[in-house]
Amino acid sequence: MVQSTGAKKLKCAVFISGNGSNLKSLLQFNKKKNSPISIELIISDNPKAKGLKFGKIFKISKKIFNYKNKIIAEKKIIYEINNKNIKLICLAGFMRILSKNFIKRFKGKILNIHPSLLPKYKGLNTHQRAISNNEKYSGCTVHFVNSRLDSGKIILQKKVKISKLDTAKSLSKKILIQEHKLYPAAISKVFSL
Ligand code: GRF
Repeated sequence: MVQSTGAKKLKCAVFISGNGSNLKSLLQFNKKKNSPISIELIISDNPKAKGLKFGKIFKISKKIFNYKNKIIAEKKIIYEINNKNIKLICLAGFMRILSKNFIKRFKGKILNIHPSLLPKYKGLNTHQRAISNNEKYSGCTVHFVNSRLDSGKIILQKKVKISKLDTAKSLSKKILIQEHKLYPAAISKVFSL
């Protein structure tokens, strides 16, 4: 457990590329008195990300970075993060792979949520792969980010039963409901006020 100093909350940035339902759940958690984080910034590589609307709704600043050139994009992101004194990065459906240098710079300070029971089904298309393999369960995992894809130390996982009728879409919906609880729980597990 990492103790943040005094009653000071850990400044946090959330990275998204799409719908942002996990961002929304983190923003709701952020409002709670006992949340150890203070979300200061939303970062996206996608100007059309639906989740960006939550910046306006929850009055949190957002920045969009053009990823045509990843090195330049990451340089700009690092500038923003340092400028806002961000101490924790939460990846929430961010569809870019961070460079080794970026990960090294923020070692132990980047979390990710993945829609499978890692180490099973790293990468994309997790739900369909789990169904096609006749898995009885899938689920979600919150983990630290290291330089190998979806391979960092696991913080928390939640199992979800796959029913015979499940499609990738229905399973994804069931798992997302659990993701929304798991991410705040994992943050509370690692960081305390
Ligand atoms: C989630 O399933 C998350 O686990 C994965 O990408 C999806 C993002 O969903 N990394 P949302 O944008 O938070 O709704």
